[in-house]
Amino acid sequence: MTRIVQISPSILSADFLNLQRDVSLITSNGPSPEWLHIDVMDGHFVPNLTIGPPFVKALKAITNVPLDVHLMIDNPGAQLDWYLDAGADLVTIHVESHACAMAQAFSTNTLVKTTRPVLSKGTSHVIETLSAPQAEILGSLLTRIRDAGAFAGVALNPHTPETVLKPLSGLFDVVLVMSVHPGFGGQSFIACSVDKIARLAAVRTAAQKRKDESEGSFLIEVDGGIDVTTAPSVVRAGADILVAGKAVFGAADPVKALAQLRQAAL
Ligand code: DX5
Ligand code: ZN
Repeated sequence: MTRIVQISPSILSADFLNLQRDVSLITSNGPSPEWLHIDVMDGHFVPNLTIGPPFVKALKAITNVPLDVHLMIDNPGAQLDWYLDAGADLVTIHVESHACAMAQAFSTNTLVKTTRPVLSKGTSHVIETLSAPQAEILGSLLTRIRDAGAFAGVALNPHTPETVLKPLSGLFDVVLVMSVHPGFGGQSFIACSVDKIARLAAVRTAAQKRKDESEGSFLIEVDGGIDVTTAPSVVRAGADILVAGKAVFGAADPVKALAQLRQAAL
């Protein structure tokens, strides 16, 4: 069976003052992208600050392209419903987010965190394992997303190993592999992400071989530094959805750039 690679252009690199124009440009000329990637950043989980639910709702009103909402926020449990109500079709939460909230609540030191964030320079939280309470909270959030009729995604920062997902098996539809430190568009691709994607694809294949549908049917999404040069290796490793900001909206001709990325991902 031919695998169809999906593209999710990130509006982070679009012109925010002309967003409707930029979105219509890539959705009305030639084959539309499968998703629109929306980066929600809270200024805490990542040093940058972007947009909130009213903005997602406004986008929903101007496009039929499914909205892929990437929550880079400390405490997704408190805000999840806002994004679901605003019309998100895929909502992705970070495994590190609740560890972060809980670490703060209990003053534990389970994370590596920058104390002085630098705008546009990448570094991000890392967790090695999920504690039972963390896994329970994350699992309940993923279930809440699915119960609302959306797809549930779980994101891993560049240095968080995919093995942390074990207690969440079967509870997510998408794993988002961050191939840059989250927070900014236009960063360089972190090469070891290819191996992480391959290991996730192997986990998926193993589950499919033992006919475990719930654990073997997730898609792998990759986010950060994706362009025509990096796309082929992540697709070969097993990525199904490619997020691309700078390579699409940052290009002189976004329609042509999207077509070229699609071609590179074949
Ligand atoms: C980074 C964001 C990405 C970003 C990707 O934190 O999660 O979605 O828009 O941008 P590029 O494709 O330019 O690396
Ligand atoms: Zn993103």
